[in-house]
Amino acid sequence: MCGIIGYIGEKSLRDVLLNGLRRLEYRGYDSAGVCAIEEESMRMRLCKTAGRIVDLESRLGNESIPGKVGIAHTRWATHGAPSSNNAHPHVDASGRIALVHNGIIENHHAIRSYLETQEVVFHTETDTEALVQLIGYFYNESGDLLESVRHALQDVDGTFGLALICSDVPNSLIAARRGSPLIIGVGDGEYLVASDGNAIVEHTSRVIYLEDHEIACINHEGLHVSTSDAQTVHRDVDVLEITLEQIQLGNFQHFMLKEIHEQPEGLRNCLRGRLDLRSGQVHLGGLQSLEREIGHCRNLVLTGCGTAWHAGLIGEYLFEEWARVPTEVEYASELRYRNPVVENETICITISQSGETADVLAALHEMRTKGATVLGVVNAVGSTIARETDAGVYLHVGPEIGVASTKAFTAQVAALSMIALNLGRRRQLSTERTTAIIEELEKISEKISQALDLEGQVAALAAKLSEQDNWLYLGRGVNYPVALEGALKLKELSYIHAEGLPAAEMKHGPIALIDHDMPVVVIAPRDHTYSKVLANIEEVKSRNGRIIAVATEGDTQLEKLVEEVLYVPATLPLLSPLLTAIPLQLMAYHAALIRGHDVDKPRNLAKSVTVE
Ligand code: M6R
Repeated sequence: MCGIIGYIGEKSLRDVLLNGLRRLEYRGYDSAGVCAIEEESMRMRLCKTAGRIVDLESRLGNESIPGKVGIAHTRWATHGAPSSNNAHPHVDASGRIALVHNGIIENHHAIRSYLETQEVVFHTETDTEALVQLIGYFYNESGDLLESVRHALQDVDGTFGLALICSDVPNSLIAARRGSPLIIGVGDGEYLVASDGNAIVEHTSRVIYLEDHEIACINHEGLHVSTSDAQTVHRDVDVLEITLEQIQLGNFQHFMLKEIHEQPEGLRNCLRGRLDLRSGQVHLGGLQSLEREIGHCRNLVLTGCGTAWHAGLIGEYLFEEWARVPTEVEYASELRYRNPVVENETICITISQSGETADVLAALHEMRTKGATVLGVVNAVGSTIARETDAGVYLHVGPEIGVASTKAFTAQVAALSMIALNLGRRRQLSTERTTAIIEELEKISEKISQALDLEGQVAALAAKLSEQDNWLYLGRGVNYPVALEGALKLKELSYIHAEGLPAAEMKHGPIALIDHDMPVVVIAPRDHTYSKVLANIEEVKSRNGRIIAVATEGDTQLEKLVEEVLYVPATLPLLSPLLTAIPLQLMAYHAALIRGHDVDKPRNLAKSVTVE
């Protein structure tokens, strides 16, 4: 949510900052801006606009951005409309300090009211302006920029990842964080600060993860990191685990489509080296440090948001069936404000692709305070959640750029399967049963490839049905969360209203919605609920609903009942979500395309929700 980048070095500022913004655009895309200090005149050069990075580029025209230090921002609006005026960077009243910010300044009203009594004039509706004006106010008094930043950050409530420059010190860049991500790229005679590694990787893979309450000051002497109370800290340099190729589109039209098609390889990488068929064991190196806690686990709480929460719902079936551990699943945004009863030996598993979702981070803190051991199932290596959890399992599917989560979902389900098997083996799960599950997991990538062959059929179906404004998705058991996920994908990309329901709940109300226009997608693989789902299909059919079934290959029975069947390969019932989700992802993609939407940047959304 909001992407920030700062650069200090000898390269073309325009190239570094605009390329960086393009790579961060998936974090927010309603307005953008850039600011640099001209070396000779020491004047601030500011350019910002409503709209996307391409709009910023056309506003800049052919001009270069002179200087050796600059900052830039792509915004997802929280306070104030997405206008050119509210776009970052924001500048203090003296016009000497410019700042880009990701996060929320919660006490911005109080700061603004106070500064207005001091005759500071505000120009925007944003919370961020309160912060830069406060820094400017202290700087006017003390003339010490770093101290002014420190002082202002002590006075603000809320979250920030920020970068700022000042025309009085044209070769300095200051960055700080509290609750919002920020990393520093250490190049050869250059430094970058950015919201994530995507903006940095083309320049360097050497990075420093700034911790909360730390301030980095970069100038001709190099990088100096200190705490909010001015204690110097030493930070190790890490290596970024992403490559440039992974964050480029290649031959695909959209990142979402690329990521859907990356799932076979992604799952291979996720499972690689972790499944041991011979001994019927699952080895998860990331959990080894918690052998005792995992062995003694008496109950589990799984938490996440959106798609990750859906993966958690599937996890509940896996943990209860294979490990026989009582499991609850809760939205992180609800968990954080409840007062959950946490028994001894509770393990909480936080699930997050980005590892930066603010609600998940807050739930993590809440569960830890209450005494739970907290694990992470995270994709982004080195992200805040990955670093703050006690131990965890990485997904290893590479960066996910499309706002709609796809490959992370299947990998989250696979990772939860492995944790459930690992836990199950310490309890009651037999070698024989585990081996059968491992065998099937080893075939799953190949089967996902087969499910991807449905694309042509799905695209044709989407063309036929995408005019309809209301859809239902039905599933039972472990495929009920898949129904929720299918509906979420369709909503967020095509802006079609869609609801996911447990199939049998239809008759308790939603069946009233069905008429001859309503597409009803029923996930009906061959499992122990199959005959019940057939009965639910009959109920929809008698009310003239247009039924699309996702079914197991070879199931000809369904063809007589429904308008169209999308066949996926057979697998173990509890692993079926890894296959049934695929045509639903493709459906959402093609429906959005037909409706003319920007698939990778759906309206009002952003990847990585780093604000509450
Ligand atoms: O990065 P996270 O997995 O924590 O993100 C959680 C949700 O914001 C995310 O899954 C969201 O629901 C996606 N846009 C769904 O496609």
